[in-house]
Order: sequence, then structure tokens, then C-alpha cells
Amino acid sequence: MKKLVLVFIICSIYSGHLVSQNMLAETYNLMPWPKAIEENPAKFIINSDVTISINPDNNGRVRNAGINFLRRLSTRTAVFLDKGFPLKNEKGNIHVVFDTVSILGVENDESYSLAVNDTSINIKAKTDIGAIRGLETLLQLTHNDETNYFFPGVSINDEPRFVWRGLMIDVARHFQPIDVLKRNLDAMASVKMNVFHWHLTDDQGFRIESKVYPKLHELASDGLYYTRAQVKDLVAYADNLGIRVVPEFDVPGHASAILNAYPELGSKDGYDYAIERFSGVFDPTLNPTKDFTYEFLENLFSEITPLFPDNYFHIGGDENEGKHWDESQDIQEFKKHHSLKTNHNLQTYFNIKLEKILNKLGKKLMGWDEIMTPNMPTTAVIHSWRGENEGLKKGGSLISAAKKGYHTVLSNGYYIDRMLSVEHHYTVDPIGDAQLTEQEQSRILGGEATMWSELVTPLTIDSRIWPRTAAIAERFWSPQNINNVNDMKKRLKRVSFHLEELGITHIKNRDVILRGMTNNQDITSLIALSKICEPLKVYSRNKGGIEYKSFSPFNLFADACVVDAKDASDFNHLANNFINDSNRPNAIQVLSYLKTWAMNHDDFVKLTKNPKIKPLQNLSKTLSEVSLILHETIQNKSISAKNLNAVKNYIEILNEPFVDVEVVIVDTLKKLTAYCEMSYLSN
Ligand code: ACM
Repeated sequence: MKKLVLVFIICSIYSGHLVSQNMLAETYNLMPWPKAIEENPAKFIINSDVTISINPDNNGRVRNAGINFLRRLSTRTAVFLDKGFPLKNEKGNIHVVFDTVSILGVENDESYSLAVNDTSINIKAKTDIGAIRGLETLLQLTHNDETNYFFPGVSINDEPRFVWRGLMIDVARHFQPIDVLKRNLDAMASVKMNVFHWHLTDDQGFRIESKVYPKLHELASDGLYYTRAQVKDLVAYADNLGIRVVPEFDVPGHASAILNAYPELGSKDGYDYAIERFSGVFDPTLNPTKDFTYEFLENLFSEITPLFPDNYFHIGGDENEGKHWDESQDIQEFKKHHSLKTNHNLQTYFNIKLEKILNKLGKKLMGWDEIMTPNMPTTAVIHSWRGENEGLKKGGSLISAAKKGYHTVLSNGYYIDRMLSVEHHYTVDPIGDAQLTEQEQSRILGGEATMWSELVTPLTIDSRIWPRTAAIAERFWSPQNINNVNDMKKRLKRVSFHLEELGITHIKNRDVILRGMTNNQDITSLIALSKICEPLKVYSRNKGGIEYKSFSPFNLFADACVVDAKDASDFNHLANNFINDSNRPNAIQVLSYLKTWAMNHDDFVKLTKNPKIKPLQNLSKTLSEVSLILHETIQNKSISAKNLNAVKNYIEILNEPFVDVEVVIVDTLKKLTAYCEMSYLSN
């Protein structure tokens, strides 16, 4: 009996804990959600007396973060802070204490505690990085009522689940200027991400200045590359935010640009190498049998590695199909001579040589999961990207890498360029329910969202990265059981909006693109369309990689549309409610959307047409017609067979992709139509 009582008490405490965590998640818009949070009744009013002190005050990262914090706080609250800068020799009402200054690396401690009381706030951390993570949490706690902005009373103890929480940006397919990268680094830091993986080279461009091999930037970049000074500046900028920078030089495949500059490194004599303008996997490949190739890479890496203080160096290694190796007699003979049976063996030979070069330069080699071959030493770090879905269920290359003894990072499931929903990415857990020993688990360093840039330019890249990456950041930071999708979506809404403070353009550039499309006319009708359309998914935009080239326009309707289209999610939810219970309030909600879309076409037809908006006419008109009939149907609770047929035909039209978007209310319209047929069809 005693035992039973004890079990009951423990269960009550535990379920009480869960309930209170859920209630807290209702109240606070923290992302990533912290490891432990408790409320207290205090309220710290944000007024002109807010001051910050930092101990030790050493002009380092925390001081910069403190200044930045005050700037963002005053922007957010419109409170005039009288004592702007961190105080010297005096305790501020926000007091930040840390023990050591970090040299960034995977061992770094990022934990912190945060306590908000009525008149004081204390942030404590072992390292300066922990302290700046705590400041970001505090900023996210900013609340207001009618009269005041305030920080609610809480105490938080927080630390990350994974040490590697990254974002990869591909600057080869489309060059991204430094200011684009800096604003994204700011956004990463705001959600506690700590690795910027800089994909610097690919078939479409070599994006970094080389003094040793200047033809690389002169002939392989279209003039779009980073100078050495810019690279140093960016790395320092990231370091200040507690973000490591891992460069990637993708070899031996994805090498068209390098080979345009130095064809003598190529595997196929006489091949007409050129910078690639399309997207995909191409044949040009470095020749792994020539000493010159290793001499070249050693010289290049010796020049480049001092710019990147991080221990890790990514050599790519993906998608080499070895076609040019197969076509070269010399390479075939080399393989025979060295008993290298397959191209995988040959690539491993190449990778091992590269690892030696990099080790000499003090770097650890990292590569995409193709480098994980039986002979590859477990000192290499495996970046898992292949076999999404079925790969993950079976454990994927991440789990097998960890089991084989490799350190590993997951991107499989976090390919944000596939244009899948935030829910899709959020529900991918790096470990899931894989059965791993503690040691195997510890080899899973974390994950990276990957922003491949075939279809993005500086105008659109932010809306392809954010806000979904904030939810991925939570997956990497927060405990595994923080996985409630609705709660995440609620918090993400707020976090997304605050990213604008940091200059992220994911929201505002929709209107910039639509204004451009209309030559500055009223864009209301196009906004309505954009809110139910999403860019085609999983690479079905740009089929075969040949619909778009490097210099194609990327300011089309599809570029204005984003994943998780707002009105579509809302309508899909409301229509489901209505189908489950067709009471009047539920009907009114659905009718309101249908009416908007029915009338939207009246505004669309008023636009002076041009070749950019004309292709949207059919979408606008069909949406209007289907909405009109469904509106009438639900209003009158009656539909004729003729109208039912018409609705079905219109839905079929909407089901086809328009101008590289999909109309993401189609499934719901089908369900609604089936419901109308069942409930309202008149004979
Ligand atoms: C990759 O997506 N080719 C790593």
C-alpha cells in the first residue's frame, strides 16, 4: 500500500511537472526551449534605469553581446535606456558573470543559468559563450502589458543537447555577399546555433581569393568571391557570436569551376572544362593519380587554413560518379597497379592523402557520407546526408557511422532547400529511438540545416532559411522530449517576427518581389494568392537541373511564396473543424476565406498585366470560381450536380502546378467538396 501511495505521489509530481512545462510553453516564446524553467511571481519592469554589468568586463564577446542586447531591447520596447553601455565598477540590475573566455570548439561549455527577480537579473555561466546564450534567452523573455514592457519572473538552467548546431550555406551556386552572411549569423546566434558551414566551392563557382593559385578566383568565380580580408572579417564576426566557421572545399567531384581555372588537374585530357551554369551532378573530377593534384591541394589548403581557426575542415567528397575516371586509361592502370578495385577505393586513396595533408595543417577532415568506406580511418568526421526517410528509419549513415566509430553530424532530414514544412524537419530527431551505447551516442555531434543555393539569391535566401531553421535549432539544442509541434509553431511565430530586428528579410521580401512583378501596382490580390501557394517541393522546381541557370531570374511568383503558407495552414485547419462539426461559427470561418478568394479575382483583373503576372491569371480565376460555388453551397446548404462537377473540375486545374508553385489548399478543397456532396447535393 505504502508503495502504491509513493508511486501515486511520484506520478502526480511528474505529470504536474509536464503540465506546468506545457503551460509555460503557452506563456513564453522561447526558442530553443530551455532544459529547465521555473516561474516565480516577480516582474522586472524594463524602464530607463535598466543597466548591465559584466564580470569580468574584458571587452570581449559578452561586452559586445551586452551592447547588442541593449540596442535590441530599446528597439523592441521603445524605452530610452539612460545608461547605454555596460557599467564599469558598478553592479547593474542585469548582472552577467562568467568564468572563462572560450576558444571555440566542440568541447566548449555553453550552459548558463538565468534568474529574473523584481529588481535584479542574474546570468551565470562557466564560459563567455554560455553568458551570451543566456542574454539571448533573456531578450526572448521580453513581455508587455498595456503599460509596461517587463521580464517575467523565471529561473532557467540551460545547456545544449548537441555540441554541433549548424547551418550550411552554399555560396557557390549563388554567391551570397558578406552582409547576407552576417545577418544570417546574427539570426543563428539568436537561436543559439554555433556552426556556420561555408560551402565555398562547387561546379558553379570557386568563391575565395587565392594568392597561390589566383586563377581560381580570377577564372572560376565570375568575379564573385570573398577576399582574404573579407573571410577574416566574417570568421571574426562569427567568433564574436560564438559561432565556429567550418569551410568546405568540395573535391574531387563538384570541381568544374576549379578545372576551368586549372584544367591540368582534371581526369580527362582534352575535356573542355567550364564553369557550370546548370544544377546537378557533373562529370569533371580532379585526377587522384597525379602528384600535382596533391601538391596543388596542399599548397591551397596551406594558404587557406590559417584563415579558418576551427579544427574541422570539410572536403565535400559527395556525388563523385567517377565517369571521367572510368574513361581514362591512365587512371584505370593506376587503379590496377595500386590494387584499387573500385572508384570508391580510389576516392578513399585520395581522401586518406588529403587527411594526411590536413592533419599536418592541424585540421580534422570532415566529408559527406560518401567518404565512409571500409578503409577510411575513423578519425574522419562523417556528414550524413543521404537516404532521407527510409535511411533514417533504418538508422541512416549517421547511426552506422557512430556505430563504426566515426564522429558524425546529421543533415539528412534538415535539407531546407527541399521546401518541406517546418513540422517535417522538427520531427526528425538525430538519434530517434536508435539503440546506441553511451559512447556511440557521444559520437553524434549534432546536425546542420543545409541551404543549397541553386534556386536562391540574396533576395530570397532568408525566406528559404527562416523561420524553419529556428525550429531545427531547437531540435539540436533542447531535450529530445521537447517535441510538441503545435507549441513549437506558436513560439516560432514570435521568433520569426523578431528575426526581422536582425535584418532578416524572410517576411518583407515577399512584398518586394510582388511589387517588382506588378511594376509597383497594388499587390493585395497577389499577396492573397501567395498565402495559399508554396514553391514546388523536393526539387520538382527546376526538373533535371536545366530549367534554371545561374543567371536566371529568381524574383518570380514562386520566389515570393514560402513554405508553410500562412492562409493555407489556417484554412486547412478551419475546414477540418467545419467538416467535423458544421456548426455556424465553424462555417463562418470557412466562408470568410472562401469569400476573400472569390472576390480576390476582381482585384487581380484590375492590374495592368505584364508578362510576369499574366501567367497567374488562370490560378486567380479558378480559385475565385471554385470559392464562389463552395461559398454558395455552404451558405445555402445545397449544391447542384452541375456545380459539383464544376467544382471538381476547378480543383483538378488547381491540382496542377502553376508557375512553379503548388496550391496547398487543394487537398482540403477536395475534402470539403466530398463533404458538400455528401451533405448538400440536391437532386
Ligand atoms: C549533397 O547534398 N550533395 C551533400
